[in-house]
Amino acid sequence: MTISMTPLGESFGVEIGNVDLGTPLDEATFSEIRSALIENRVAVISEAPADVKILVDFGRRFGTFRPHILSQYHHPEANEIAVISNDPESGFGRTTRRPAGSFWHADLTYEEKPCDVSFLYSVRVPEEGGDTRFADMAGAYEALPAALKDRIEGLTAVHRYGGRNPDDSIVKLSDEQRAAYPEVEHPVVKTIPETGCRSLYVNPGWTVRIVGCSETESDGLLEELYAHALRPRFQYRHKWRDCQIVFFDNRSTMHSATPDYPADAKRTLYRMFVAFDDAARVGRPADARAANVSRSPCRP
Ligand code: SIN
Repeated sequence: MTISMTPLGESFGVEIGNVDLGTPLDEATFSEIRSALIENRVAVISEAPADVKILVDFGRRFGTFRPHILSQYHHPEANEIAVISNDPESGFGRTTRRPAGSFWHADLTYEEKPCDVSFLYSVRVPEEGGDTRFADMAGAYEALPAALKDRIEGLTAVHRYGGRNPDDSIVKLSDEQRAAYPEVEHPVVKTIPETGCRSLYVNPGWTVRIVGCSETESDGLLEELYAHALRPRFQYRHKWRDCQIVFFDNRSTMHSATPDYPADAKRTLYRMFVAFDDAARVGRPADARAANVSRSPCRP
């Protein structure tokens, strides 16, 4: 199978064409897809079958699943899938005032071992609106002034579910869930092993504070980093069609759903979260450049 690659955003994002997930992917094709993800941070496959088993099998090729904290939204046939929906008929309709996920975040950074790659699958999307925006945190890091890079070098930040300002699009945790997810600390700058790229690893959703800074300093620094990372030049906005998989490097991107669709428009997505297995992390993918998308992996 010869797959095709079409760049999407200015500096990141790729549409992978001519992929039939309905038949098992051979190793070479899978390796090209994985390389395209790592090089481009966000990848799209269209016309993917609406079949839970096929989606789960595809996710599993990348590593080990990390189940979502909100177990009440796990898919009944596959707990690897977390359903995000505003549709009461789906059985998973959320009751938050704003649509779920409509704030900037990276997935699961409130966990000690967050996922490396996240998958979104569009079961049903509004005709207009409900896009998902992505921010290129590796490109944003690369473009930081040297003095700011120096300032954040070696810093760590605290993350927790709900962050500092629990948003009205976040489902509250049960006591049991809260107890299982205490605050965790992650470096403010993360190195992506496969490319050597460095990436900002803080997000407005889950990052609470920078360790060792006063609250004022921490707030100021985080705001400065977010304002920089959310400049239009670092963003790609995905306009959904039904039956698309958008999968992204969760270590070097943030994302946010866009809550701009009518209340009666139905929007249901499946989500999966995967950590690369250690063996797959070693070295840069051999065919990283094979896909004919010649971008510098770290630069905006
Ligand atoms: C999410 O935050 O994981 C979901 C994003 C979306 O619904 O577009």
